[in-house]
Amino acid sequence: MSFDLVLFGGTGDLAWRKLMPALFQAFRHGTLPADGRILGIARDDLTNEQYRELIQQRFADVELAKRPTAEEFGRFAQLLQFQRLDLSRPADYGRLKDRLAQRRADVVLMYLATAPSLFTTVCEQLAAAGLNTPNTRIVLEKPLGHDLASNREINETVRRVFSEQQVFRIDHYLGKPSVQNLFALRFGNALFEPLWRRENIANIQVTIAEDLGVEKRGAFYDSTGALRDMVQNHALQLVCALAMEPPISSDADAIRDEKLKVLRSMRPWTPESMAQHAVRGQYGPGSVGGEPVPGYRQEPGVAPDSCTETFVALRTEIANWRWAGVPFYIRTGKRLAARDAHIAVNFRPAPHAIFKAPMGAANRLVIHLQPRDGLQLHLLAQGQENRRHMQSLSPVHLDLDFDKRFGSERVGAYERLLLDVIDGRLNLFVRSDEQEAAWRWVEPLLDAWQGNDAGLRPYAAGSWGPSAASAMIARDGFCWSEEQ
Ligand code: BG6
Repeated sequence: MSFDLVLFGGTGDLAWRKLMPALFQAFRHGTLPADGRILGIARDDLTNEQYRELIQQRFADVELAKRPTAEEFGRFAQLLQFQRLDLSRPADYGRLKDRLAQRRADVVLMYLATAPSLFTTVCEQLAAAGLNTPNTRIVLEKPLGHDLASNREINETVRRVFSEQQVFRIDHYLGKPSVQNLFALRFGNALFEPLWRRENIANIQVTIAEDLGVEKRGAFYDSTGALRDMVQNHALQLVCALAMEPPISSDADAIRDEKLKVLRSMRPWTPESMAQHAVRGQYGPGSVGGEPVPGYRQEPGVAPDSCTETFVALRTEIANWRWAGVPFYIRTGKRLAARDAHIAVNFRPAPHAIFKAPMGAANRLVIHLQPRDGLQLHLLAQGQENRRHMQSLSPVHLDLDFDKRFGSERVGAYERLLLDVIDGRLNLFVRSDEQEAAWRWVEPLLDAWQGNDAGLRPYAAGSWGPSAASAMIARDGFCWSEEQ
C-alpha cells in the first residue's frame, strides 16, 4: 500500500521531537509500508536535501537507542521530501495538489502539527483546493481548542470538509503500551471484570506526575494550564478506559460509544463540589534531583503575577450503576517529586477480619504507565517473620514488568498511532462528541479559575503538590499511593 504523509509544521517542534523519531522506528521495525513518502510542509525555503539534513541534525537530540546510524538515515531519508507552503495562500495548496497527483498514493494523510489556531484555515484551504478526497485522512493534534465553544468551532469546520471516519484526533496517552494493556487487562481477561465495580472497589486514583517544569513552553503553558493541558484530554481518557463498560466489539465506534457514556456520567461541577473537590496549585522555587529550580512565575515566558495552575487534584464520581459512590481522584502537575504516571485501583478490605493486618491494608492493583510500564497486584500474605504470630499478615506484591517481558518488541505511542492512521484504524483516536463532553465537564472549573488566584495553592518544586490535595482525599478516609 502506498501512502503520502503530508506533515504541516514539518520543521516544528513536534515533527522532530516525536513524529520523525516515531516514523523512523516504524521504518526500522519494518512496519512502515514500503511505498511511502513523508512530505514536510512549512514556510521555510528548503530543498529536499536541506530538509533531510535538518532532520538528520535533529536526530542528534533523540535518545541513543532511537537514533539512526548514518546508513539507516540514508535509507530513511529517501522517504523525506519538502514543500514550501504558506498556509493562507490558495496557490500553494494548488502546488501541493499537483505534487500529490504525480504519485496518486493509495492514502494521503494530512497531519496538522501546527498551532491549533490554524486548523480551520488549513481545512478550508484543503477543501477549496479539492484536497479532501475520500482517500484522505486528517490528523489533528491537541489542544483542539481552548474551551467548548472553540473546540466545537474547529470540529464543525473539520466536519464540513471531512467525514468523521477521516478524522484522527490524537491523544498520545491512548497510544501508550500501558494503556493498551489496561484495555487488554479489562476486556481480554475474565479475572478482574467481575470485581471491577462499586461493590469491590473503594476508590480509583489517576496520577500523572512530571518532574519537569514548563521548559521552553512558558508562554504557551501560561495561557493553557494543567486542566487544559493534561486533564481535559489525557487524564479523562484514562478515566474512560478505567470506567467504561465492555464494548460489544473492538470496532472504533463500539469503544468510543462506551467512553462517551463515561464522560456523560461524570458528576457535573457545582459551586460546592468545586470548593471541596478541586485543588489547584502553582509551583514555587524548590529543588529537583538535588538541583535548585526556579518557581513557575520566574520561568521564561510566564507572567510574574500569573495565576495559571501547574497542578490539579480533583475528586469526581461516575453516576451510574457500576460506579455510584466510588470516588475517582485525578492528579497531575509539573515539577512534582518524580516522573510517575500510574493508576491505583484500591479494592475494599476483606469484609470480616480473622487475621491481623496493617491498618487499612487491602488489595490494590497498580497500573504503571511511566517511566516503568507494568502491573503490580498488592496482596496480603504470611511471611517468614510472622512464624511466631501466625495470625498476622504483611503486604506483598506480584509484579509484572512489561518492558522486561516484551523488551524491544514494544512500540511507542506515536509509532503505534501513526501506523494506525496509515492503516485507517480509528480505535485509539478521539471522536468529536467525546472531546466535546470532556470540554463540557472541565469548563465550569476553567471559568471559575479564569483570571483570578482564589484558592491557588503554592507548592515547592520537587514536592507532591499542595497539602490541600492530601487533605481533600483524607476527608474520604483515603490517601494518595505515595502516602501509603
Ligand atoms: C503533553 C503536554 O500533551 O503531554 C505536556 O502538552 C506534557 O505538557 C506531555 O509534558 C506529557 O506526555 P508524556 O508522554 O511525557 O507523559
